[in-house]
Amino acid sequence: MTPIDYIESHRDANLAELVEFLRIPSISTKSEHKADVERAAGWVAEKLRGQFESVEIIPTKGHPLVFAESKQIPGKPTVLFYGHYDVQPSEPDNLWTTPAFEPAVRGGNLYGRGTADDKGQVHIHLAAFDALKKTEGRLPLNVKVIIEGEEEVGGESLYEFMRNSKQRLKSDVLVVSDTSMLGPGVPSVTYGLRGLNYYEIELTGAAQDLHSGVFGGAVPNPLTILSELFAKLHDKHFRVTVPGFYDDVATLSTTERKALNSLPWKMSQFKKNVGAPGLAGEKGFSVVEQLWCRPTLELNGMWGGYTGEGAKTVIPAKAWAKFSTRLVPRQNPGKIVKQVEKHIRKLLPKTVECKFEVLSSGKPWVAPYHHPYFEAAHRALEKGFGKKAVFIREGGSIPFVTDMYDAFKIPCILMGFGLPDENAHAPDEHISLENYFGGIKAAAHFYEELART
Ligand code: BES
Ligand code: MN
Ligand code: MN
Repeated sequence: MTPIDYIESHRDANLAELVEFLRIPSISTKSEHKADVERAAGWVAEKLRGQFESVEIIPTKGHPLVFAESKQIPGKPTVLFYGHYDVQPSEPDNLWTTPAFEPAVRGGNLYGRGTADDKGQVHIHLAAFDALKKTEGRLPLNVKVIIEGEEEVGGESLYEFMRNSKQRLKSDVLVVSDTSMLGPGVPSVTYGLRGLNYYEIELTGAAQDLHSGVFGGAVPNPLTILSELFAKLHDKHFRVTVPGFYDDVATLSTTERKALNSLPWKMSQFKKNVGAPGLAGEKGFSVVEQLWCRPTLELNGMWGGYTGEGAKTVIPAKAWAKFSTRLVPRQNPGKIVKQVEKHIRKLLPKTVECKFEVLSSGKPWVAPYHHPYFEAAHRALEKGFGKKAVFIREGGSIPFVTDMYDAFKIPCILMGFGLPDENAHAPDEHISLENYFGGIKAAAHFYEELART
């Protein structure tokens, strides 16, 4: 039996196994789910035990890492497969058609938290390893696997592991499935990601909340000041007003600009996915460029004062905001932090105090895609899906990819099997079953192709 026949005949078994994985609510950001996060690490380790010579659950200050290594085959390349078993919170739970942690199939999709990001995509590789091992007796090349449980909260423990045990991650090529395809029926290799700085600020005015009748008119309101601040961070062309913000941004070559803008990317589909009455992006750039190649500043959340039922006349003592900047090649995250903080402090009036915090920081990544390993990925995707594959960039961030690229300068192959409208981080997250099963075949082809290079 070939690996592909094996994959075909194990569709139901694979899906059932994935459902089991998805039922574990491994929400990394919530301490009440710590036991579930550990259970998910154990689940991954257990699956790998059947396929790899050594499997370890590595404890960290945060959530455990799962690390596995296959039996050495001299002369074959070593591939490192990376993924994450942690997921985002499920709320607002009332907006899910079926509960987030009770996976359900509807209309050719599997619904549930983690289906696309990233348990479903991790399982694609576990199923491919299983098919190769069962039909050929061993994996065709040297494989290391690292699956983390803190990706959605900044990946600090993996970063630490990388600093202390760099040699264990050493490999010839990194493979990641934690991104999306350009669209349905368009298998894609991603060669660029944006970086991400995440910030939180706290403004304090009065020593405590004040009666707005007794004090209103004479005292600062941190919530109003915060709104004014954020209104000033973009100009009317949706450009970020932080001085120096665009200074280091790499300009696209004419060739790349042309290649990206002639991809089979559909504006109508994008507008439909967004669902807003209109779009809003930086003037002078196509949407694809805005999403993949331009830096942004986004307000993620803002709170303070009274938000409960009915009215409460109050001038809040404090106001908070969470915001982030997506970064592109040549921008330096540390330098951007300084520019952003300086600008914000300059814009704020002396009537409030500001606490400025950076929650996480990650560099952008973009790499040439003409290495033979990229070609192997391209061929494998075409074989697995029976469709033409394309090279794309994306706007999301995976800090580990940049870290690995910087540490070893190896090709990083991002073959994503999600779709942009699959609601990652949102209610009704799902993965297309066609892409899940196609992904397993493509991954199996890819490992075989790699073994041949
Ligand atoms: N899988 C995503 C990253 C992603 C999404 C890449 C879509 C490309 C396309 C990952 O799980 C994620 O959500 N990353 C965070 C950053 C992280 C540091 C919290 C992100 O991009 O917001
Ligand atoms: Mn992810
Ligand atoms: Mn995510």
